[in-house]
Amino acid sequence: MNVGILGYGTVGSGVFDILRENKEVIAERIGEEISVKRVLDLRDFPGDPVEPVLTHDFKEIEADEDVQIVVETMGGLHPAYEFVKACLERGKSVCTSNKALVADFGPELIQLAKERHASFLFEARVGGGIPIIRPLQSSLSPDEILEISGILNGTTNYILTEMREKGADFDSVLKDAQALGYAEADPTADVEGHDACRKIAILTSLAYGKNVDFHDIYTEGITKITDRDIAYANQLGGKVKICGSSRKVGEQVSARVAPVLIYPGNPLYSVDGVFNAILVKGNMVGDVMFYGQGAGKLATASAVVSDVIEAGKNIGTGVPVQWTAEKLSLVPFGESKSRFLVRTAGAKSENESKVQAAFGDVEAVDAGFAEEYAFVTGEMTEAAYEEAARTVGTVINKIRIS
Ligand code: HSE
Repeated sequence: MNVGILGYGTVGSGVFDILRENKEVIAERIGEEISVKRVLDLRDFPGDPVEPVLTHDFKEIEADEDVQIVVETMGGLHPAYEFVKACLERGKSVCTSNKALVADFGPELIQLAKERHASFLFEARVGGGIPIIRPLQSSLSPDEILEISGILNGTTNYILTEMREKGADFDSVLKDAQALGYAEADPTADVEGHDACRKIAILTSLAYGKNVDFHDIYTEGITKITDRDIAYANQLGGKVKICGSSRKVGEQVSARVAPVLIYPGNPLYSVDGVFNAILVKGNMVGDVMFYGQGAGKLATASAVVSDVIEAGKNIGTGVPVQWTAEKLSLVPFGESKSRFLVRTAGAKSENESKVQAAFGDVEAVDAGFAEEYAFVTGEMTEAAYEEAARTVGTVINKIRIS
């Protein structure tokens, strides 16, 4: 079986290495050898083992009928989209690690693969090395998925962990995450929650078989989280984590990405540092958690190779993926409910009565800052929270409670 790789960057070279180093193990598992026939990259790699198979011309892969599986690890939308489409049109299976491509064109490329009896697979796309997409589509297929919540971004989990454990400041920890190779090229996508948003949109689409446009998901990053918020979370015995979550509410689904306060009873509580985890609640199986490295060269490449193997076992039929272009109905964000940890500027005496008038009974939290008044609300809708916060007028920050 012959593979072509588009893009010899971090993940593409990882795929190349795994297919070489684990050649025998893989051949034993699928009963056939997988060889990398061509690797496309604009650059040259003198002395690298890729040299004999390197090409600068996509057509050498597209037109080669011996190449049955194409790995797309170029990143970005263009020309990745055009290349992937061309390969699928020729009946080649495609395995990708490209988040933008899957989030923007997932249903279209899945449909095209289906028409050509080929596969379009993207196991690496949500949790890096964590197997989540295949389990969601096969192992959990007897269940109705009631809820998915996950720590879906290693950079922000690392930042929040370091802030909590070492009192480190945001900017220096972000630099560390970049040095570890976790952060996106533009780390705004990490810290503003856009990366986690794309991932929960993909997971939710796969859980319900219909499309969730990531633009429709309420997304809040961690840039407003300060050491004071973390001190209040500590006082309450919890941790602040940025979570992507979706939950079935009647015939609709409510989804969001936001920093949340998590207590020790929640399995996501102990997921720290650059690790990711995804907690899935099925109506029969109950809670199942998937934990591991959400990024990194070999972890991500391992997930891509698992797709190559799966595609290889299903040549001529394709691996079915349930995700159509039909839009999934989302609960309007204003109607979704939470409890909130709220901090207001000014002493307790200045705030207490107006807070009670606006929010009703609340539970005060004292983390030792006399010039602030903080409290935990009862469960309320986002719209009711906004209205009450406007009425009080002195809110500094709020964190939802998981
Ligand atoms: N930037 C992502 C993260 C890795 O920090 O988790 C790739 O999805």
